Amino acid sequence: MTMKPAHSQSSRIWTERLRDGLVVQVRPLLPQDCNRERAFLAHLPEENLAQRFVGLVKPIDEAVVRDLTCPAPECEATIGAFVPVKGGEIEVGVAAYVTRPDGVHCDCTVTVDPDWQKLGVGRVLMKHLIEIAREHGIRRMYAMTECHTGAHALGEYLGFHSRPDPEDPHVTTFELVLH
Ligand SMILES: CC(C)(COP(=O)(O)OP(=O)(O)OC[C@H]1O[C@@H](n2cnc3c(N)ncnc32)[C@H](O)[C@@H]1OP(=O)(O)O)[C@@H](O)C(=O)NCCC(=O)NCCS
Repeated sequence: MTMKPAHSQSSRIWTERLRDGLVVQVRPLLPQDCNRERAFLAHLPEENLAQRFVGLVKPIDEAVVRDLTCPAPECEATIGAFVPVKGGEIEVGVAAYVTRPDGVHCDCTVTVDPDWQKLGVGRVLMKHLIEIAREHGIRRMYAMTECHTGAHALGEYLGFHSRPDPEDPHVTTFELVLH
């Protein structure tokens, strides 16, 4: 029996230069990132939490930190963008997907620290998340968020099709077909 490769592989690290010249490292979140993830989530304003978790409807608590830093290898991928600071690194963005039971569709989220938005962090995170999804045979990615310009601009850049949620006009559903 062949083992399926894990969606989050700790050995992968990408170095990316942002629009302002700063360098970020993009890599899978690991259990040892839980303090960085907690600090990242604590720094997000409530509106960003609502936008991020609209599809998941979860309050931010230790279970969320654990889910993001210990993704289920057979169906989840979680990557973060990290910036070196004196004595370590800080997390400035996170992107994740969870596959649906059919294994070829997934639901994704991406959130960037407001102090780091509009610099290209969302783009680099989603670029690598999409790459991982492709490698694992995922054919469609979905995201749901409250309507706002940042999500629309990023979704459009990445090639997602957007449509208003039929049940809630304040929510937009995004869909990307992977070839
Ligand atoms: C959506 C989000 C992840 C974008 O992250 P980001 O790091 O700012 O995105 P990027 O810098 O990579 O920007 C990608 C494009 O969107 C544009 N953009 C991003 N935020 C924007 C804003 N608030 N207004 C206008 N354009 C915006 C950027 O300018 C860029 O386009 P350009 O290259 O043509 O200028 C961020 O706004 C966020 O965390 N929002 C809350 C959570 C959320 O809604 N997530 C999405 C659904 S799960």
